Amino acid sequence: MEKQEIRTFGRRHGKKLSPRKARLVQNILPKIMPNESETVDILEIGFGAGEHVCELALNNPDKIIIGAEPFENGVAALLSRICDENDNILPEYKNIRIWPDDVRLILNQNKFSFSEIWVLHPDPWPKARHEKRRLLNSDFLNLLATNIKQNGKIIIGTDHWGYYDWILEQLQHTNFVINNEYACIIKTRYQAKNMAHTDAPKYIILESGN
Ligand SMILES: C[S@@+](CC[C@H](N)C(=O)[O-])C[C@H]1O[C@@H](n2cnc3c(N)ncnc32)[C@H](O)[C@@H]1O
Repeated sequence: MEKQEIRTFGRRHGKKLSPRKARLVQNILPKIMPNESETVDILEIGFGAGEHVCELALNNPDKIIIGAEPFENGVAALLSRICDENDNILPEYKNIRIWPDDVRLILNQNKFSFSEIWVLHPDPWPKARHEKRRLLNSDFLNLLATNIKQNGKIIIGTDHWGYYDWILEQLQHTNFVINNEYACIIKTRYQAKNMAHTDAPKYIILESGN
């Protein structure tokens, strides 16, 4: 990030990693960091424990997928999911790349042109004094616009209806158009864990306007 950006995520580290996860972070992660020489199609921002990144990888075997997540335990959870007991990446997950940091660091470089960008259950930062930490503000949405292909799609899902309405307001300062025809229901662990306490998720699917 060139300028100091407001932090949009909570912790970077949680409980101590198991020896296997620590080994995967040290040995496997550096081998699957995004590489500009590769054509990358799909980005998932804030993948949590990585369930949906794996789903994307399985559903798009010919495409390269970047998952971005600054929380080390989440990165380790995804690595653990995609590697076998000998620390080899399973063949069906060889199309996954991991960016273990703030996604804005790669988006600001404008090196990629994605056909799909997924943001599932972004941190809602519900307290008024934390609103500035919300990731999907108009500046960020306009940054996404510079990293998406023509006819590309941005898929946003949130179970926080206040955040949903706030995103709709932010979209008024962008050229995106909403196209919810291609609606989808995705259940991630975060959503399942919170279903009892929150409202049903709402999705917004964006296409670049003129
Ligand atoms: C509430 S969790 C949801 C995780 C996952 N998408 C799910 O649905 O289970 C939001 C995630 O976004 C990540 N996040 C927040 N700001 C981010 C940023 N600037 N770049 C990448 N990830 C970010 C957080 O670390 C956190 O893991």
